[in-house]
Amino acid sequence: MTQLDILIMAAGKGTRMKSRLPKVLQRLGGRPLLHHVLDQAAHLQARSATVITGHGAAEVEAATHQAAAGGAKLVFVRQEPQLGTGHAVQQAVPHLRDDGTVVVLSGDVPLTEADTLRALVAAGGGEKLALLTVTLPDPTGYGRIVRNGSGSGAVQGIVEHKDASEAQRAIAEVYSGIMAVPARRLAPWLARLTNDNAQGEYYLTDIVAMAVADGVPVVAHSITDALQVAGVNSPLQLAELERAHQQRQARALLEQGVRLADPARFDLRDDVRTGVRGELVCGQDVEIDANCLFTGRVELGEGVQIGANCCIANARIAAGAVIHPYTHIDGEKLGASVGEGALIGPFARLRPGAQLGREVHIGNFVEVKNSTLADGAKANHLAYLGDATVGERVNYGAGAITANYDGSNKHRTVIEADVHIGSNCVLVAPVTIGAGATVGGGSTITKDVPPGSLGVARGKQVAIANWHRPTKQPKT
Ligand code: UD1
Ligand code: CA
Repeated sequence: MTQLDILIMAAGKGTRMKSRLPKVLQRLGGRPLLHHVLDQAAHLQARSATVITGHGAAEVEAATHQAAAGGAKLVFVRQEPQLGTGHAVQQAVPHLRDDGTVVVLSGDVPLTEADTLRALVAAGGGEKLALLTVTLPDPTGYGRIVRNGSGSGAVQGIVEHKDASEAQRAIAEVYSGIMAVPARRLAPWLARLTNDNAQGEYYLTDIVAMAVADGVPVVAHSITDALQVAGVNSPLQLAELERAHQQRQARALLEQGVRLADPARFDLRDDVRTGVRGELVCGQDVEIDANCLFTGRVELGEGVQIGANCCIANARIAAGAVIHPYTHIDGEKLGASVGEGALIGPFARLRPGAQLGREVHIGNFVEVKNSTLADGAKANHLAYLGDATVGERVNYGAGAITANYDGSNKHRTVIEADVHIGSNCVLVAPVTIGAGATVGGGSTITKDVPPGSLGVARGKQVAIANWHRPTKQPKT
């Protein structure tokens, strides 16, 4: 097997994105386009991945670390100014070894499958020039594959759209922008390129005719799936490829047995904040309703049900738990976990460090942050639990909150097992409510409540007899 070196052209400007961000750093599934392409280097077990940068070079380089290329050695080469694709590859040649096969890719073509590239490399066999081609209903703008004879013979060359004759423009087979070249052939061919063409550019595609002239066999590996070679030039194309990418992920989950209510309304993304890869690990009989968004690594245990319109990031949901609609769970760096058989939502919010035991109930408009709730604890309505340790079977009333922040520091609230916290209580941390204690509704608790006792801290109710409401004064 020939050694592979990947070359990624990423110097272009991407004017039509109308964005400050360099095009190859625009995100698909939360991951920069360029990183999708670098994934190929990892999948193909390439020896190196050379990225040719130009527009926004410093930004592209800063956003791309070795890890993005897996085991392939990541190299950056700058192309200044950008004089065409042939000129781009010329910049990289001094950094390439000449004993392998060079696979040329574009930083803005994210959905190529590794199997397609393997087949392309196999077609080239280390000796031939292999072109990935696709037949398009509308080939406008692409380089056309010019063949011998009546058009079905051997490949003669590639002619760019702007340089093509009317007859050549009728050719529907186009060059995808992806080729595999025997490395030792590259330098001599590139040295012979001229910019004598409609765009005044050095075209990489001109090496095809040189190969034919030099007697080096040229093979076209044709695919029918245009998505695999589709580039991103505009926000519309980016959005279209995003949908295609999401549908691919959705299909893979359906094939594993996950029941997605609608694969067209499903999203799984990398976590931009932490760089954690988008990964949804599901047990058997998981059901996910429409319009859910998963970010980073999310694990759903057997039989978990996710209601419509939930956003879940970096979290583990154990078997049998039910997440009702419109719930937001974001573990961020700390993670969040939901125990077996728990019921969460609708309209619940679990933040980093929320760790919920079995059969915990978190109802509507309840926020939990950096808190542990033991098995069977319940907070069913309109409440806040921050920096709290909550024991088994605690019942936390509607409107109760932990006042965990004194303006400078955060403090913990400990609520031991079997405590009942009445409605609308403020637990001013640090404070401990002993096991089995009860806190009367409306209390502001600033001191520990001993186990088994009733803690009440509110104004006493009085009744003033024969009370007359003020009457309206006549206007003067
Ligand atoms: C290129 C091919 C065309 C093919 C099409 C497929 C050439 C001459 N033409 O055309 O046959 O059908 O891709 O999409 O190769 N780039 C650089 N430096 C440069 C110029 C381009 O790095 O000086 C990069 C771009 O950022 C882009 C890639 O090379 O990632 C392709 O360049 P682009 O201008 O989009 O090529 P096309 O004109 O579309
Ligand atoms: Ca161009």
